[in-house]
Formats: sequence, structure tokens, C-alpha cells
Amino acid sequence: MTGTSVSNTSHALNHVAIIMDGNGRWADSHGLIRSEGHRQGTKNLREVVKAFADEGVSFVTLYAFSKENWQRPRNEVQNLFDLLVESVAQNLEGLHQDGVCIQHLGDKNNLPYEVREAIGHSEKITQGNYHVTLSVAFNYGGRAEIIEAVKKIVKDSIAFSDITERVIEDRLYTSAIPDPDLIIRTAGEKRLSNFLIWQSAYSEYYFTDVLWPDFGKADVQKAIREYKNRKRKFGALES
Ligand code: FPP
Repeated sequence: MTGTSVSNTSHALNHVAIIMDGNGRWADSHGLIRSEGHRQGTKNLREVVKAFADEGVSFVTLYAFSKENWQRPRNEVQNLFDLLVESVAQNLEGLHQDGVCIQHLGDKNNLPYEVREAIGHSEKITQGNYHVTLSVAFNYGGRAEIIEAVKKIVKDSIAFSDITERVIEDRLYTSAIPDPDLIIRTAGEKRLSNFLIWQSAYSEYYFTDVLWPDFGKADVQKAIREYKNRKRKFGALES
């Protein structure tokens, strides 16, 4: 939603986006099958969202299923779909009580009916909440999102000379939310994996070796402390 602006150089932390990695390794290290790692990776969701909200963060975005994740074995893909449905059933009431507004980012088209229903239901129940917006990227790909935006621009017959950042941003899944200030990736990998590639142009990155199912309140606070020590310049000189 927001364009980049030099006046926006404070340490305000409005939007945190998380690449939840390491569920498989967590399961491995506990002698469990991968699906148990994914299940454990849904148990900390409410705690993590609440911990960010308590620190004044208004937008939390989770990368739960990428377009590339379809390449995983069929049973793991099905397991992630089942978990989304199960997690909505288990967490929706609590998140609703916490004033969380849930929003989906991604392509609903080729998701199974039950998944689309669970997403639609959670969006509908929580749409009036304003304490924190929880965006769940599910069947999401950053390049696919940009391609969709370009198609919409063509469909809307926008003139060549009228193409601006704003025109593109208005057609991304994230049109209603600001760019992420901080992107966290757990489990030691240091890459973006096609996540919010347009929106992360000026984001800060925080990488931790902690596996996603072990990520909790103390890790939230540690990430925020590190973020507050960063100097954001948005291409300008330091003031
Ligand atoms: C990465 O771990 C994690 C995922 C691909 C899925 C994340 C999904 C969840 C936490 C559950 C569903 C989410 C919601 C919001 C209901 P990995 O499998 O790549 O771990 P590994 O690299 O250790 O194998």
C-alpha cells in the first residue's frame, strides 16, 4: 500500500512478515514424522501474533503455503491443506477474541473447496476486527502476484504513461496493507523464496536458527530489539 518515502525513516514497526521454516527439521529432531512438525508449527500462531500485537505491531503476515510447495509429495500437500482447515477450527475463536482480522493472500482458484471455505469463513467472522491484521499467504507466489497485477492493468486498459508504483500496488494481494518493515525467516536459511518480492524492496531482514515450532514470545522480542537497532534509510543519506 505504502510507497517508499524518506520521511519514513523511524523505527516504527508496523508490519512483520514471517517465513515459517524448519517444521520438518523440528519433527526430525524429535523423532517424529514431518506432518507432526507442521502440526506443532500451528500451535504457536496465536502466541506469536499476540506477542507482536503487544509490541504495537498492527500487521502480521505468515507464509504458510507457497505456489512452489505443490512440488512436495502429495500427502504432505494434503496434510498442509488439512492443517489449515484444522487450524482455522482451533484458532479462529481465540484470534477473534484477540481482535485479529484475518485476510488471505494468494490464489484461491486451485485450492480444495474445504480450504477455500475455511479461509472465507475466517475472513468473514473477523472482518470487523481492527487490533491486528493477520494475513495468511496460502498458495502464494510473489512472481505470480506480479503477473496477476500486470494482467489486471491490461484488463483495466491503463495507459502506458499512467503506469506508476501505485498502479501496480493497488493490484497486488497486499493492496490494503503496508509494506513489511521486517521480514523474519526461521531455521537458518537466508533467502526470500518468492515471498512479497515487490513489497520487501526496503524491508529489514532477521534470520534466526530457531526452528519455527520453537519460535515464541522471547524470539519475537529478540527480533524486535534487533530491528530497533537498524538504521533504515530508504535510499537516502543518514540524517
Ligand atoms: C516450512 O517448513 C514450513 C512450511 C512449508 C509450512 C508452514 C505451515 C504451517 C506452519 C502450518 C499451516 C499454517 C497455518 C497458518 C494454518 P519445512 O517443511 O520446509 O521444514 P524443513 O525445511 O525443516 O523441512
